[in-house]
Amino acid sequence: MDTITIALAKGRTAEDSITLLNDIGIYFNDLHEKSRKLVFYSTDKAIRLIFVKAVDVPTYVEKGSADLGVVGKDNILEAQADVYEMLDLKLGKCKFVVAGDPDLELGTIQRLKVASKYPIIAKNHFLKTGQSIETIKLNGSVELAPLIGLADVIVDIVETGNTLKENGLSVLEEVENISTRLIVNKASFATKSDRIQSFLKKLKSALE
Ligand code: PRP
Ligand code: MG
Repeated sequence: MDTITIALAKGRTAEDSITLLNDIGIYFNDLHEKSRKLVFYSTDKAIRLIFVKAVDVPTYVEKGSADLGVVGKDNILEAQADVYEMLDLKLGKCKFVVAGDPDLELGTIQRLKVASKYPIIAKNHFLKTGQSIETIKLNGSVELAPLIGLADVIVDIVETGNTLKENGLSVLEEVENISTRLIVNKASFATKSDRIQSFLKKLKSALE
C-alpha cells in the first residue's frame, strides 16, 4: 500500500492539528514537542507526516510531494495553489483585516500604501472595494509600517486584537475569516481516492 504523505504547517496550530489526527486513531512514533525531526511515520506506517513552514504547505501539495496539507486559509489564498480545499478543520480561527490609524478615512486617499505579508490578499480585497493601492511586502511586524510612515494601512491577521491595540491601530475594514483547512493534491485525489475519502470521512465525523 502506498504511503499517504501529509504536509503539516509548523507553528501555532501544529499541536491542535496533531491532536485531531490522534482523535481519528492516527499516532506517530517519536513525535514529541522538543523534537527537531521533520519526518514522522504513523504507528502502522500508512501515513508519513512532514513538517513544513506554513507558507510552503500549498507548494508541497500542489507539486504532489504531499498528498494532503493542513494549513491556514491565509496561506492557501496567498499561494493561489491549484489544489482542492476539502475541509475546514476549525482550528486557528482568526480574521484578515485592514488596519490603521483609527482616524484614517480610506476613501480620502488616492493611492493607498498597504503593507502586508499577504500582498495578493491585499490586492484582491482592494480590487473588490475599488480602492487604488500600492503594496509593500513585509515579512513580519507589519503593525510597525503605519506607525513609522512606511504605509498608510496594513492588511494582516487579527486574533485577540492585542497587537493592534498595543500599537494604537484599529480595524478599518474586515476582509475574510481564516481557519485551518485540509487541502488535497488533485492527482492524489484520483489515484488514492479510497484512502483519501475514508480519511476525510473520519475527520469530518471527528469534527462534528
Ligand atoms: C500575527 C499577526 C498579528 C498578530 C495577531 O503576528 O501578523 O501581528 O499575530 O495576533 P493578535 O490579534 O492576537 O495580537 P505574529 O505574532 O505571527 O508575528 P509576525 O507578524 O511578526 O510574523
Ligand atoms: Mg504580526
